[in-house]
Amino acid sequence: MMKKQQLTIALSKGRILEETLPLLEAANIIPAENIFKSRKLIFDTNHDNIKFVVIRATDVPTYVEYGGADMGIAGKDVLMEHGGKGLYEQLDLEIAKCKLMVAGLTGAAPVEGRMRIATKFVNIARQYFAQQGCQVDLVKLYGAMELAPIMGLADRIVDIVDTGNTLRANGLEPMDFIANISSRLVVGEPAMKMKYRQIQPIIDMMSDAVVKRREG
Ligand code: ATP
Ligand code: PRP
Repeated sequence: MMKKQQLTIALSKGRILEETLPLLEAANIIPAENIFKSRKLIFDTNHDNIKFVVIRATDVPTYVEYGGADMGIAGKDVLMEHGGKGLYEQLDLEIAKCKLMVAGLTGAAPVEGRMRIATKFVNIARQYFAQQGCQVDLVKLYGAMELAPIMGLADRIVDIVDTGNTLRANGLEPMDFIANISSRLVVGEPAMKMKYRQIQPIIDMMSDAVVKRREG
């Protein structure tokens, strides 16, 4: 019998973790203890050879790129910002759906000349505005982007929008659409070459679970 290889799956802690676990469970991969009640970073599962590492969403592509994990689950926003080097996107998990948008103060006039854009997605923003032929200055923030136009730090922000409540609550409105976002399963280049026979059935089972979920 083929010896089972070690497999490490990087999971984003935070808002997508809760929706991620049922999809892994559909592939019969279940953490050995309650992840939400633990301060651990590495978790055993019901398989001797499969482990989870639970890390910040933005670190998932980096771990998978460098082979620190074989595969991972992260938002498309995080994957776009990373650039996708060394990663193979295998499955749209259809969870944590939202949009990447340009937003600004409600009713704000168009900006003459260079626009200043505050965002944590500087790579995405750079690429988007370059495609639009717009000259912009980027200001990197790590959160609460909505505050930047109010305080005069920026003319516009690039941020995640779901219900639009956060924008509205702060006197902002969505202006331009950049991309539809959902979470994706990615596999790293080394695992793709060396472990695909082991990974493929997991992807297939998760894919079935996504379809089942979609069809209610
Ligand atoms: P970090 O922990 O590195 O600060 P984060 O705060 O962006 O990352 P989460 O808030 O847990 O991480 O979000 C994880 C992912 O969920 C995001 O990358 C995005 O794809 C998605 N997401 C974020 N906000 C929303 C939202 N309001 N509705 C739906 N999905 C969202
Ligand atoms: C996310 C995002 C927006 C908000 C959008 O923030 O950064 O601020 O959700 O959702 P809405 O359109 O439904 O209001 P989150 O709640 O994850 O906080 P954080 O980014 O500060 O972690």
